[in-house]
Amino acid sequence: MDIRIFKNEAEIGKAAGQLFCDAVKENPSCVLGLATGATPVPTYNYITKAYADGKVSFKNVSTFNLDEYCDLPKTHKNSYYTFMHEQLFNSLDIKEENVHFLDGNAEDTEEECARYDAEINNAGGIDVQLLGIGNNAHIGFNEPADEFTVGSFKVKLTDSTINANKIYFDEGAMPHYALTMGIEQIMRAKKIVLIATGEKKAEAIKNMVEGEVTPQVPASILQNHKDVVIFLDEAAASLLNK
Ligand code: PGA
Repeated sequence: MDIRIFKNEAEIGKAAGQLFCDAVKENPSCVLGLATGATPVPTYNYITKAYADGKVSFKNVSTFNLDEYCDLPKTHKNSYYTFMHEQLFNSLDIKEENVHFLDGNAEDTEEECARYDAEINNAGGIDVQLLGIGNNAHIGFNEPADEFTVGSFKVKLTDSTINANKIYFDEGAMPHYALTMGIEQIMRAKKIVLIATGEKKAEAIKNMVEGEVTPQVPASILQNHKDVVIFLDEAAASLLNK
């Protein structure tokens, strides 16, 4: 694991944002796996500024988002579809048809997950996958479990995840289910970039980096990936053995 520690989240945004811009400049039709949550916002801000400054174009880039809530209208203010358009896509020249999401409102979720997995394969797989990490070490919405998951699936969110994300919703409105890419699928990305900031993530990061590889710590599987870069601020790195 290539672990890089920064002073604050703005510095991470610059470094991670530049990594994504470089990937797009090197391969203008690359396939990106993208994440939601508070963590990637500085990275997305850097990317939209680089685009506005004429430094990079996304016109041939394709994206696949990691996950989406179930039973939330696609254009709801808290859907990940809305989040990604507001934080990133609306400010880039990316084509809407190249932007991919799991449909959390699909009637047949198994069929929807199979469709998504096939689309990722048809696109040639993910070149660079961005990840955050949950306080419980989830990646995507792969919660601690008895086995590592494979392809996309419908997941019941844990109390830890509901407590962390319900602040964004009106009281009682946070969905308890989501569709998410599976762990094996995330691991097939050619390169993985994980970002974690703040003290709340320190234990998950320690377990991910220094603990055993176990589905009870979903992110620990990244120890087995050949090309993973971890961007941490000092607080998220604070429990690591130096
Ligand atoms: P956060 O979420 O960026 O809002 O902390 C990360 C995650 O749950 O993966």
